[in-house]
Amino acid sequence: MSAHQIAQPLIEVDHAVRRYRATGAAAANGRWNTVLDDVCLRLEQGSTTALVGSSGAGKTTLVRCLLALDHLDHGTVACRGRSLRPGPARSLGWFRRMVQYVPQDPASSLDPRRRVRELIAEPLRRLGVEGDHPAMVAEALDHVGLGQGLADRRPGEISGGQAQRVAIARAIVTRPELLVADEPVSGLDLPLRQQVLDLLARLHRDDGTGILLVSHDLAAVVRLCDRTVVMEHGQVAEDGPTERMFTDPSHPATRRLLAAVPRLPRPA
Ligand SMILES: Nc1ncnc2c1ncn2[C@@H]1O[C@H](COP(=O)(O)OP(=O)(O)OP(=O)(O)O)[C@@H](O)[C@H]1O
Ligand SMILES: [Mg+2]
Repeated sequence: MSAHQIAQPLIEVDHAVRRYRATGAAAANGRWNTVLDDVCLRLEQGSTTALVGSSGAGKTTLVRCLLALDHLDHGTVACRGRSLRPGPARSLGWFRRMVQYVPQDPASSLDPRRRVRELIAEPLRRLGVEGDHPAMVAEALDHVGLGQGLADRRPGEISGGQAQRVAIARAIVTRPELLVADEPVSGLDLPLRQQVLDLLARLHRDDGTGILLVSHDLAAVVRLCDRTVVMEHGQVAEDGPTERMFTDPSHPATRRLLAAVPRLPRPA
């Protein structure tokens, strides 16, 4: 790898603007909502970053734009200096292998007709990854702590926590450099929440996988992420080391988030 490539961030979002047409009564007036309002974000290779903020702040929109699943109205997104925009799967294959996504509410994104082994193998097939796919699927199942016996079941035959881990297995089977997980532990009970967080922590520690975690669970943020980006009204309100943000927040949006949590574990 050249010195030039090393200096480039893995992901760079530059002055991103995304507007959606307003819904409901406001739509009749032809109004638009600015959901991303001049957002800049750099993610370095192997880094762990949390994206937090109140509901509707624009977190999922930013993530979808950064993954080239949605387009920007202004601004740019690049991966290692290569410009990204939504397009045919073929043209983004190189990026999809590098950056994988665990969407918010993954259970509903799993095709109910497919078996778990097919669901996990699907990105390997789609992205043309070479190698022994059954072995890679078995390894991914093992990685997320799911028994091989689950491989023949369909999404309707597994629990919500198992579906969450299948979604993560699908995302890690291509060995991405960055895993973007949108609310990966919401809706899970405490033991499962711990299991999923342990898994993400292990991926980072053992494989150097970078993590972009979107979460309302600040304990998960403290546990997993060195850096925290706080969003409010489509803008970055605060961006810095998680520890400083949680001990000495400077923006009211950050203070409000912290005030909503009764007891927060101190960063390790
Ligand atoms: N496809 C869309 N069309 C119209 N409006 C949208 C669309 N997607 C998101 N929005 C609006 O954009 C705003 C930001 O939504 P977004 O889902 O990014 O928020 P969020 O920070 O992820 O919230 P949450 O924490 O609840 O997941 C919301 O007001 C939402 O209604
Ligand atoms: Mg969201």
